[in-house]
Order: sequence, then C-alpha cells, then structure tokens
Amino acid sequence: MEFTLSEEQLAVREAAADFAQRVLKPGVIERDTHMTYPTEEVRQMAELGFMGMMVSPEYGGGGMDSISYVLALEELSKVDNSCSVIASVNNSLVCYGIEHYGSEAQKEKYLRKLATGEWVGAFCLSEPEAGSDATHQRTTAVDMGDHYLLNGTKNWITNGGTSRLHLVIAQSNPEAGHRGINCLLVETDWEGVQVGAKEDKLGIRSSDTHTIMYTDVKVPKENRLGEEGSGFKFAMQTLAGGRIGIAAQALGIAGGAYELAVAYAKEREAFGKPIADHQAIAFKLAQMATDIEAAKMLVYRAAWLKDMGMDYSQAGAMAKLFASSVAMRHTVEAVQIHGGYGFVKEYHVERLMRDAKITQIYEGTSEVQQIVISRGLLKGDLY
Ligand code: CAA
Ligand code: FAD
Repeated sequence: MEFTLSEEQLAVREAAADFAQRVLKPGVIERDTHMTYPTEEVRQMAELGFMGMMVSPEYGGGGMDSISYVLALEELSKVDNSCSVIASVNNSLVCYGIEHYGSEAQKEKYLRKLATGEWVGAFCLSEPEAGSDATHQRTTAVDMGDHYLLNGTKNWITNGGTSRLHLVIAQSNPEAGHRGINCLLVETDWEGVQVGAKEDKLGIRSSDTHTIMYTDVKVPKENRLGEEGSGFKFAMQTLAGGRIGIAAQALGIAGGAYELAVAYAKEREAFGKPIADHQAIAFKLAQMATDIEAAKMLVYRAAWLKDMGMDYSQAGAMAKLFASSVAMRHTVEAVQIHGGYGFVKEYHVERLMRDAKITQIYEGTSEVQQIVISRGLLKGDLY
C-alpha cells in the first residue's frame, strides 16, 4: 500500500491550488451572486490544461492519471464549484466518453477541441420525467437511414448554454428497452437545438444549467457513439468515472470549509481566548478532519482503481455517497464555527454550504449510489 503522491501529482495539486486562490477566489462571490458564467476563468482553466486532463496528448490532452485529476478538482472545489463542475463534466463525462467509446473520426473531429477547451461539452441524460430512473428516456432518435431524427427535452444540463457539443442519450428502439438507447454527438448550432433559460439555483450559481429542446434535429449516423443500442451502458460506464470527479468536488468543498473554520477558530476570541481553545469547537474541528481524511481515502482509492484498470463502479459510488455527506454536514459545522459571520457572503462558508447540497443530487443522488453499492455487494462484487 502506497500513501504518497508522485512529484507530478503534487505539482498538479499545487498548480490547481494556486490558480484557485489567485484567480478564482477574488471574483467568486460576485459571480455567485449575479449568476455570472466564468468565461475568463474557464479560458484560463483551458490554458492550464484543466479541461482535458486525462485525455491522451495525441488529442491535445494532458495525459494525466485519475489521481492527478481528482487532486486538481479538489483544489478548485475549495473555492469555486461552478468552475469545478464545468471542468468535471468536460473532463470525465464528455472527453472521457469520446476518447473511450468514440470512433477515430469522432476523436479527430471533436476530442482535440474539447480537450484543449476550445469547445466545452455537455452530457445530456436527465429529462423532466427521467432523472434517477434513467432508462425511461422519452427523447427519441428515430433511424431514418443515413441519419437519426432527434426529438425531446433534456433537463438540468450543465454547460447547457455554453457548450458546442452535446452527448445526447435517446431512445431509438422502445421495444428493446434500455438496449434500444443510443448516445448521439450533437453540435449545438445544428437546426432544431434550442436552449432554455438559465436556472436560478441554490448553489453552483454561476455554472450554466439549462433545459435543452431538440426538435427534428438531423444527426448523421456517423455521430452515434459506439454500437447501435449501446447508449445506456455507455452512460452508466461513463458516469461511474464521473462520480469519482463529483466525489472529489465534495471532498474539496469539505476541505475548503474546514480550512476556513480552522483559521477563523484560531483568530476569533470569545470569553478571553480563541474559540479553538474551547473544547466544543476543537472537537468539531477534530471530527471534521477525521471525516475528511476518511473521505479522501475513499476518493483517492476509487481514482487509483480506475488508474489500475480495475473495477471502480462501487468504489466510486461509495466515495461519492460518503464525501458528499461529509461535505454537507461539515459545511454546516463550518458556518456554525463562524457564528454570525458564517451567515454572510464575505466569509465564503455559506456558499460552500449551498454548493455542498448538489453533490448529493447530481451524477446520481445518494439513494442511487446506495442502489449501486447494495446491488454490487449483494451480487458479491465487493471485496
Ligand atoms: N457499467 C456498465 N453497465 C451498467 C452499469 C455500469 N456501471 N450499471 C448498469 N449497467 C447496465 C446493466 O448491466 C443493465 O444492462 P443489461 O440489462 O444489459 O445487463 C442496464 O445498464 C440497466 O441497468 P439496471 O437494470 O441496473 O437499471 P435500473 O433501471 O435499475 O437503474 C440506476 C440503475 C443505477 C438507478 C441508473 O438508472 C442510474 O444510475 N440512475 C441515475 C442517473 C444519473 O446518474 N444521472 C446523472 C446525469 S449526468 C449529471 O448529473 C451531470 C452533472 O450533474 C454534472
Ligand atoms: P428524481 O429521480 O425524481 O428523484 C427524486 C427523489 O427520489 C430523490 O431523492 C431520489 O434519490 C429519490 N429516488 C428516486 N428513485 C429512487 C429509488 N429507486 N429508490 C430510492 N429513492 C429514489 N443531468 C444530466 O444529464 N446532465 C447534466 O449535466 C446535469 N447537471 C445537473 C446540474 C444541476 C445543478 C442539477 C440540479 C441537476 C443536474 N443533472 C444533470 C440532473 C441530475 O443528474 C438529476 O437531478 C438527478 O439524477 C436526480 O434526478 P431527478 O432530479 O429527476 O430526481
């Protein structure tokens, strides 16, 4: 068992931490308040290679391992979770999906643009009536010979308004159930693609979440990802890795709130001494540190399993389930440690508390993670 990070992994973590504190932090409250998309910040993330970290250098990516990716997301998420989710979707859903399931022509056409951040991509699975119950796709992709005719509505799409390419999951053969589902690569300037209004959200407010409507969109056959009918399996396999990214985001949120709470507790005095010297506060910090360390082990282990080419579905689900719960509980504690100051925007912890909630919902709710874990363990897949 090895618990140390390589020189390269440490350098990635340091670069992400520096970027988060120096570039993301100054404007994060303003962007959150006004739901302003971080255009310039995303451009700089692309310049630093954070938009296609694991993609092969052959296609313009960083060729890094999943541990490096997780470390970067963790640091970005200590500060700005709109930026970290934008990066997470592009890296672990869109780029990963095309690199591992796309044809050579699809990679040539799209992957380089996405990995370098010239384009941002979106992953379109959820629908108004199909979120957790993802096999029940209402969006249809009817086979018209040389193309599919795409019709339907996708909900809550991250990068919805800014993306140039959508990975759209749609039903082509209802009789075949989930084995009739395809994933199609849809360019957003094609006729029939319509973007709804930006959602006004509790957290990750400057990220770009939209409903997308597809009306008679003609998608060439060569834009189907993988074999006919493989779209649902593709979505599940891709999400298994994506969930490690969201677990890293949750870990970063918890870590960011913890760091702010420690600094504040050492500085703020009450009853003649720093509040950190009151045992009630010190014990809260001890519990936070312990839970964050436990979450870190789960998240890094899931990433390590992925790097080793071993099965990581259940490990990723466990990491997301646990880290998101740690993020939620301990951002609430961090606000408590800050007292009244924790309730105002200037101190950053209230934003982290609002951001924490989404990590228990997207890329599969906590209940969905429990379904994945329990099915695995009852089948005997675990340990
Ligand atoms: N790898 C490969 N195949 C998988 C798989 C995996 N990890 N998980 C399931 N499958 C396959 C199954 O083997 C099955 O195929 P076969 O019948 O051919 O064997 C098929 O998928 C259907 O599986 P289930 O019968 O288990 O399906 P289910 O209806 O019971 O649902 C579920 C399972 C886990 C609840 C699934 O529907 C699910 O994950 N739902 C949540 C959806 C989700 O995570 N959405 C996230 C949207 S993206 C997002 O949110 C991005 C963002 O916010 C930033
Ligand atoms: P539902 O599935 O209706 O669930 C409602 C409640 O019922 C939840 O608590 C759920 O856990 C519970 N529940 C449902 N079924 C079961 C069950 N079998 N057992 C126990 N409990 C159950 N989707 C995308 O495709 N792409 C994106 O980029 C994307 N980005 C998002 C960004 C934001 C900000 C948000 C809010 C959502 C995003 N989503 C995206 C959608 C997200 O993945 C879904 O919201 C999520 O999967 C839950 O689906 P739902 O909202 O329909 O809730």
